[in-house]
Amino acid sequence: MNAMSEKTSSQKTVLQPIVIIVDDAVALAEAAAKRLVERTVGKDRTAICLTGGSTPEGLYRLLATERWRSQIPWDRVHWFIGDDRFVPQSDPLSNIGMARRLFLDRVPAPRQNIHPMAKDATDPDGAARRYEDDLKRFYGAERLDPARPLFDFVLMGLGRDGHTASLFPGSPALDEKERWAVGVAQAGMEPFVPRITLTFPALASTREMLFLVDGAGKRDILSRVLCGEDFPAQRATCDGELVWLIDRDAAPET
Ligand code: 6PG
Repeated sequence: MNAMSEKTSSQKTVLQPIVIIVDDAVALAEAAAKRLVERTVGKDRTAICLTGGSTPEGLYRLLATERWRSQIPWDRVHWFIGDDRFVPQSDPLSNIGMARRLFLDRVPAPRQNIHPMAKDATDPDGAARRYEDDLKRFYGAERLDPARPLFDFVLMGLGRDGHTASLFPGSPALDEKERWAVGVAQAGMEPFVPRITLTFPALASTREMLFLVDGAGKRDILSRVLCGEDFPAQRATCDGELVWLIDRDAAPET
């Protein structure tokens, strides 16, 4: 399947996602690493937004291996996180903590280039506001300009209930248009852990958004999302390329 464009009723051009199917989880990690590295080439500064979940773990481990770490200009790459639980980075539930353990703490990434959420705030929404301030400072403006995306590369996952980042079905955060990050007071996942998530407008401000999906357990929800059913992951848009990288087990039957 390839990128196509179509006109909506308002005649705005909407880019259809690119769907890439690879053999298995190992090939998925390799393909994702290649796309990530390509986004850093020839850039003075690259901003990458990571995701949590188990699917990107293979990619993160790969980035710490010599073959891949030697291809990344670590001092010029900044690492953000699309959502996290409101816990210390040392907590096993922390998404940025997971990324640090698997690769960021094993490579020459300068500490100031790693941008965690939930730094010393007293509540998730306060942490979200601080993250938004950090992002605005990094971006150098209060408003996002589609011609100058905030990120170069945004990784996304797909939950079995159709959520992505910490944007869950039915959440008011799905309709947020102004804020770049919000606290998540309620979520469809049990046990509930307070979370912080970037909003769709902030996530969309990227040159590439890459969804990673693997395993037969995701096939049903993935096929519904790609068919256009209204799930949070289906609402994700992107100012640049929107790519779904999936393995054969997750690929919808044709
Ligand atoms: C998280 C996420 C979440 C994740 C999906 C898929 O914090 O858990 O960022 O949106 O990407 O739940 O998770 P898996 O990769 O574990 O299936």
